[in-house]
Amino acid sequence: MASNIVTIDLSALRHNFKKVKEWIGPSARILCVVKSDAYGHGMLPVAKVLESIGTDYFGVFEAEEGLALREAGIRTSTLVLKGIDADEIPAVVEYDLTPGVFDLGITEQLSDYALKHGKVVPIHIKVDTGMGRIGVPWEAAAAFIKMLLHMKGVIPTGIFSHFSVADEPSHPFTDVQLERFQKVVAVAHDLGIKNPEIHIANSGAILNQKGLDNHLFRPGIILYGSPPSLICPHKDDMEPVMSFRSKVIQVKRVSPGTSISYGRTYIAEAQRVIATIPVGYDDGYSRLLSNKGAVLIRGKRAPIVGTVCMNLTMVDVTDIEGASPGDEVVLLGKQGPGCITAEEIAEQIGTISYEVYCNIGKSNKRVYMGGIEGQRSEVRGQRSEVRGQKLKVGG
Ligand SMILES: Cc1ncc(COP(=O)(O)O)c(C=O)c1O
Repeated sequence: MASNIVTIDLSALRHNFKKVKEWIGPSARILCVVKSDAYGHGMLPVAKVLESIGTDYFGVFEAEEGLALREAGIRTSTLVLKGIDADEIPAVVEYDLTPGVFDLGITEQLSDYALKHGKVVPIHIKVDTGMGRIGVPWEAAAAFIKMLLHMKGVIPTGIFSHFSVADEPSHPFTDVQLERFQKVVAVAHDLGIKNPEIHIANSGAILNQKGLDNHLFRPGIILYGSPPSLICPHKDDMEPVMSFRSKVIQVKRVSPGTSISYGRTYIAEAQRVIATIPVGYDDGYSRLLSNKGAVLIRGKRAPIVGTVCMNLTMVDVTDIEGASPGDEVVLLGKQGPGCITAEEIAEQIGTISYEVYCNIGKSNKRVYMGGIEGQRSEVRGQRSEVRGQKLKVGG
């Protein structure tokens, strides 16, 4: 029996999806980003729920994630955000995946392969409007599109880009990116790409109402219940989907001068009561929480004392009356009146909620609740289940 359990609340996921629909309007469409094992929440169970409530697209990072969706019976259009390598071409064609494209050479190979197999593959053109990551530089997009239109085995059905600061409501660079993107879309239209899917808005843009004249939106983190930053509007309107629980395994009274854990970074100044929890950095619970973070026991906060170890963490329960071995410990989520959010943990360790979810989700056994029949089901939360697969298709 695992002592540490990540619970994924699928009813919270449905709530967040409905909220996104409210924010983007009834006629807008959604591409749910489920890459990186749905940010640690488990790509397949998450995608099954999102498909059942009407997502229009999925966004994965690489082809093997798309293949895993197809093998699980998920048929919704799936965009491969990273673009593709030569060895991913057969899977893309066979499994009806839609690659993002920004490289003429690989797109030509895809086109040739598709034609040889009697297919025409839909592609979305990825434009770099200022993220400085992948994508055709926006100034070079016209030349790129002209070349692309000679390739008969691919058909551009979408044009997309990615914001770099859309989570900062008044940052002027979002409008700069938007303007560049609109120019590229206009050029594409003039070159003959008439009704492509146009998409640029991530969670930050959705909350800050940027790029809303597009009709396809690409939320990730807001589906999982966190705002992309704490300065976004509606930051309290989502419900966190993931929670993380453990149990106290020992409680002991220590005398003044007692040191706790590696490096003796905590020394009790007075008599204290210390509880030990079987959670550590191997469970995605960051060592940077040492002497900083807190957990919930009996509805109250217990601060972490000393260094977080690989598998064990100590907390001070002096003020929690009756704290005993076997007590439930909430590391992320709610207990009684208390709540620990991924944003709080992220701030303590100098990162973002995205990383907190990915690390905790991939390292622990996951239990799903709030499914269609309200059943509980258990899935070992290992990213390797999806990413370790081989692209086992011929050709
Ligand atoms: C290309 C792309 N689109 C959309 C998203 C979703 O972003 P967010 O989770 O901030 O909504 C991501 C996430 O990293 C992404 O890489």
